Order: sequence, then structure tokens, then C-alpha cells
Amino acid sequence: PTGAKAAGNRFAFEAVTASTEDSIVVPKGYRAEVVMRWADPMWSDSVAFDQDTRGTAETQARTFGDNTDGMEIFMHEGRTLMAINNEYTNRKIIWGNREEGKFANADDVAKGMLAHGVSVVEIAHDGTGWGIVIDSPFNRRITPKTEMVLTGPAAGHDLLKTAADPSGTKTFGTWNNCGSGKTPWGTYLACEENFNGYFSAEDEDHKVSAELKRYGVSASDWGYGWATIDERFDVSKNPNEPNRAGYVVEIDPRDPNSTPKKRTALGRFKHENAECVINNDGRLVIYMGDDERGEFLYRYVSNGVYAAGVDTDELMENGTLYAAKFDASGKGTWLALTEENTGMSLAEICIHTRIAASRMGATTMDRPEWVTANPNSDEVYCALTNNKNRGAQNDEGVFKTNAGGDALPVEGPNPRAKNKYGQIVRWRPAAGDHTADGFDWDLYVLAGNPTVHQDDRAGSDNVNDGNMFNSPDGLAFDSNGLLWIQTDGKYSNADDFAGQGNNQMLAGDPVTGEIRRFLVGPNEAEVTGLCWSGDRRTMFVGIQHPGERGDSHWPDGGASVPRSAIIAVTREDGGLVG
Ligand code: FEO
Ligand code: CA
Ligand code: CA
Ligand code: CA
Repeated sequence: PTGAKAAGNRFAFEAVTASTEDSIVVPKGYRAEVVMRWADPMWSDSVAFDQDTRGTAETQARTFGDNTDGMEIFMHEGRTLMAINNEYTNRKIIWGNREEGKFANADDVAKGMLAHGVSVVEIAHDGTGWGIVIDSPFNRRITPKTEMVLTGPAAGHDLLKTAADPSGTKTFGTWNNCGSGKTPWGTYLACEENFNGYFSAEDEDHKVSAELKRYGVSASDWGYGWATIDERFDVSKNPNEPNRAGYVVEIDPRDPNSTPKKRTALGRFKHENAECVINNDGRLVIYMGDDERGEFLYRYVSNGVYAAGVDTDELMENGTLYAAKFDASGKGTWLALTEENTGMSLAEICIHTRIAASRMGATTMDRPEWVTANPNSDEVYCALTNNKNRGAQNDEGVFKTNAGGDALPVEGPNPRAKNKYGQIVRWRPAAGDHTADGFDWDLYVLAGNPTVHQDDRAGSDNVNDGNMFNSPDGLAFDSNGLLWIQTDGKYSNADDFAGQGNNQMLAGDPVTGEIRRFLVGPNEAEVTGLCWSGDRRTMFVGIQHPGERGDSHWPDGGASVPRSAIIAVTREDGGLVG
């Protein structure tokens, strides 16, 4: 890793110190203001948030969803449209009037369901601050009930057919959308991550197939209870329903009546985000992480070439998936997941993508989170958030594996056993060609705690007591070429994490390696999701799950219910942010 601590004149801000306050910390001369919170109105018939009942299914359907994550801005006919993932819901918070985060009735379950999905809103600055344009014709809630189409090689395959949809091409909804992406033609990509946690079976002893097991589907859900109000989430009755989730969903924010498209060509796994790059030859390349311990990093390369007016469905439906293999010497290879290589049909590769990548011997990774491409060079960066199973062995010396049986030895860009802090890997495609098979890689940073550890847990040379952090997750380059790093890690501020405070956002100089802390989030929150206004004078940042364990009243303070929210960060002098 690079370690130079250069003058750092790329940064237009003074670093902030770690914080354990229940508030947002930004540098001197900057300001942070709330733009929208969970359950904020989007239409004039929306019911304002009720601190006592915390709303109903009916009110949730007409308000902003919970747990904001990936988001993107779209300038359209002079308007600012924003599409935002509402990844999941804090059950203890939305059902705070119930004990221990358990639902009490069908309306509780439906409220939770409708807190998921994607919100599309028009936002505007009214002279005092940014907010939702109430009743904008572009405002839209996309939920687990919204009709969608399955497109690409897997569409219509037997594994996607259900009693309700014998065609295998029509499905309902999206949920657990984590990171995001933006296509060159101005559509939004919502990435389905932990889709498995919503399926259950009435019969607790029901055994799912090995293929579903690979994706973590089981007879128990994670407490959402969706099968109690909708039978398609009962995996004993609808064993193919989970095959219809785990994709990248393309949404046109400019057309509120458009039908979202699940893009099976981009593979099925626990998608983090989707970073689109137009290669020098015009082909579309999309980099994608699969966020689970020991799963893989992927690339999609379209067959066709992007140009104004081309059929973009064709670009998103016809191409090749690859999984990354990293070797110890700083070289790597993209392994093509073709029928010939994997012995699977193209549809099966798109549905059982993890299995295809395992067959090819891809490198098991420390939970690939967001990928971002440097606008000033051919480098691509990926956050590897942490992995307690890395290098772990049983008494016989057998390594822990992912759900597919692939071992997790210490190797390549995953160099530390029981990795608590995470790292950021970057690679440069051979000859600057994003479709090339080969690449060079190195680590941009190994996160760590140099005040507690002297070994490799101290982190790389560009980590010090003034900028340390753990569990990098959200990553995005701004148009100026600074790398923004958001964290979703331990906020205990104790032991291995002493001095690191709450989750935070930092900026990294890709050339010198210098990293500077820019923002700290409130208690028990993760900082995730990042985009800029058209003039780059406002940076929008997502604050997810404040008070997930009961210790926050952010953003409204007092005794209020904590609410996930998007904030706008601006400079008091009106300058460019970053
Ligand atoms: Fe939803 Fe991998 O974070
Ligand atoms: Ca994430
Ligand atoms: Ca994470
Ligand atoms: Ca999260």
C-alpha cells in the first residue's frame, strides 16, 4: 500500500476528530442539514410521522422508506431527481410500540414491507435548504409489491417460474437494495443484497435445496414475517420465488409509470452496487461485489457498444459475466463465466452465479462492498469490509469456507486472518482496457488501529491515530478525483476500536494515499450512500439505522424516535464540496 503523507492540498477541509456524539460532525466552514427522513411525506395526502404509533402500512406507502442506502442524482428538464434505496427496516424502531422488535399484527408486517424498496423524489432548494418537492409528478415509491419484469438470459427459465407467474418473466417488487449505480443513459440501478432474509416456511423443518442454501435461504426469515401476509415468501410453497430476487434492477426515474427491469445478465448474488464504466471501445463494463464472507468480485462486459440512441436493453441483456482471481504477485485475471467454462447453461449461470464462480476457482474475498472507478485514471477500487472467517481453521487445520465450500485462506488482497478492520483493493486493467482478462492490483489502504496494535492490525502507513476507521463500505469518487470512503463498522469506541468513534466518512487522495476524516455520523448509525448536486456545491450523504440498539434520538433530538435520513452537506462560503 502507498503510505506517503503528502502536503494534502487536494483536500479543501480540515480533518475532524473521532466523535461519539449523537450528531453529525463536519469540518469547520461546512454545514449539514437534514433533507428527508424515514416516513417523511412525499405527497400532500401523506400523513406526517406520528412519534407514538410510528405510522401504519397505509401511511408508510405514501412516505419515504426506511434505512436509506445507495442513491443517485438525475438532472431532468431543469429538475433534480433523486433515486434512493430503502434497504431494510429497523424492526425495533418501526415496531417500537411492540416488545423486542416483534410484529403484533398483519399491519405491522405490511408497514415493514412497505418501508423497503426504492424512493424516487424530486428535490429542490427553497433558499433555506433542500427538501422533497411534495406532489412532484416524478415522486414514486417502488416497494416489494411493484410489478417488474425479469429480462436477459434467465428470463422465462423453469427456475424462475412460479404458480403465480408460469411465464417466469413477471415478478413483484424489490427489497434489500443496498448500493446503487447509474447508467450512462440516465437510469438508476438498485442492487438486491440480502434478499434471502425475507423467506421462511410454515414448516420449520422444511429443507431448502442446496442451491438456495448457497444464498442463505432457509425455513426461517430474519424477523420480517412477510410469509405471514404473502404466501410467495413461504419457500416450501414457492421454492422458485427466491430465484427471482438477488439481481440488479434498472429503474427509469424520469418515467414514474415505467416498469422496473431485473437484469439477470448481471448475475444473481448479494449485490452491493453496480459501477458502470464505458470502455475505450465503447462497450459497457459493470463492476459488482457480492457482499458475503468469502464470496466474489464480478465484472460484466456487454457485447454491444454504447452510443447515443442505441438499444440499451440489448446492452444490459447480452454480455459476459466474469469473476476475479487475484494472485499473490499483484496480478489478477477475470475468469469468464461461460457455458463452455462452467458446464452450466447461460440461464443457470445468471441464476446460480455463485456456483458458476466457485467452479471457476475465483478468489474468495473479505466481503466485497462498493466498487468505484477513478474518473482521472483507469483504476477501480473496491471496499473489502471485514471478514472474521478469513484464515480461521478448525482443530484439524481445515479452513472455514463460504456456503459453497470454497476455503478462506489468508491470500492476495485478503492478507489478514480474522480481519476486523477491512481494506480497500484497487486494480488497473491491462493496457487501460476494462474488457481485458488481466489486471494489476494493490491495496490502497489496510484499515486498522495503530493505537492498540503494532502488528498488521495497526493498518497500512496511511492510517494513523487521527484518521483511523474500520469496515470501509460505501466508496465513491467525486468528479474531481477524490475517493470518498464511508464506514459501516463497530462503533463501540473500545478495545480493538478504541478511539475510532462512530461510523464516519473520509476522503482519500488516490495518488498520495493520504486519507482525511470528513464527517462523523450519529450514534449506532452507518454512513452510506453519496451523491452530489449538479453544481457539486451540495454533497448528499445517507445516515442509516441511527439508534439501531436504542441509543440515539437523531436527527430530531429530545425523546424523539431515531430516523434514518439523508443530509445535505454544503460549505458556508458556497464553494465546491471536497
Ligand atoms: Fe448492505 Fe453490503 O451492505
Ligand atoms: Ca453496504
Ligand atoms: Ca456493510
Ligand atoms: Ca447497512
